[in-house]
Amino acid sequence: MLSELKEIEEKIESFRAKNNKEIDSFRVFYLGKKGVLTNLFKKIGSVSKEERKEYGFLLNNLKVLVKKKITQQRGLVVEDVKIKKTDLTKPVSFKKIGGKHPITLIRNQIIDVFKSLSFEISLGPEIEDDWHNFSALNLPAEHPARDMQDTFFIDKDVLLRTHTSSVQIRYMENSKPPIRTISPGRVYRNEAISSRAHCIFHQIEGLYVDRNVGFSDLKQILLFFSRKMFGEKTKIRLRPSYFPFTEPSAEVDIYWGLNSESDYRITKGTGWLEIMGCGMVDPAVLENCGIDSNVYSGFAFGMGIERIAMLKYKIDDLRLFFENDIRFLKQFSSS
Ligand code: PHE
Repeated sequence: MLSELKEIEEKIESFRAKNNKEIDSFRVFYLGKKGVLTNLFKKIGSVSKEERKEYGFLLNNLKVLVKKKITQQRGLVVEDVKIKKTDLTKPVSFKKIGGKHPITLIRNQIIDVFKSLSFEISLGPEIEDDWHNFSALNLPAEHPARDMQDTFFIDKDVLLRTHTSSVQIRYMENSKPPIRTISPGRVYRNEAISSRAHCIFHQIEGLYVDRNVGFSDLKQILLFFSRKMFGEKTKIRLRPSYFPFTEPSAEVDIYWGLNSESDYRITKGTGWLEIMGCGMVDPAVLENCGIDSNVYSGFAFGMGIERIAMLKYKIDDLRLFFENDIRFLKQFSSS
């Protein structure tokens, strides 16, 4: 009888579990209703009087041993799982975690260039009043140049901003020169949607106001920017243009080259591509914002982020930026 208990003890001692399921079966095997130890406890009455005391004592010890074993093995099994979770030798998971939208990527690149020249970022409302979007920018009511930017009106005096020049008016109204700021943001124009135009797009406009600011400063900053964005050898040219809020005004082209058939198509055979508008801030605009135009002068420039992104990534349909087609967006994620 007692030797039988010794055997059982050895068996219990040598038990090793691989998982929690095995531990459960182990418990049921010894302590369950029909378990080995449960049965032996039932037999206690049939043990001879001399042996009964020791038998009971050993049986109790076995019960304690089973319970200890269960606790011990549970700890080991759990530790096993923990080790697996932090196994540093395992290969990394290549799950896609998404990425930034191409417009965000290009916007950040543009911002970085101007930040390196100490420009601040300024933001303003997308729903604007007539003054900040038009009148303060030398575009009084009925001015024909208002037609350059077809507008979504909400009310007679309230509209969706057509450019972020409105932010620069707000900025000038609230600060004193020297001013160096860029205004990124979404703008709206009532235009038919096509591969080249959309009713929503994004702009970054810049403004620099100080004493003795000249056109050569503007040109130098535009050259610096173009080279950072399109490569150190990039050439630019300025073509005279017209904006009501700048005088003189110009359009900036970069030399794209004529190396392929598509270069001929997108540059209309000239090799040059327009990237933004710019000019010296009209003194009347400075005065509208409370800045003395006899003391200060400034320049401004503005570009469409979609346009820059289309050039940099060689995308020929602007609508792709707004459709959120995952096959398109996936190509810009960095992981
Ligand atoms: N606001 C102009 C536009 O949206 C761009 C521009 C900004 C031109 C500053 C000149 C100077 O078309």
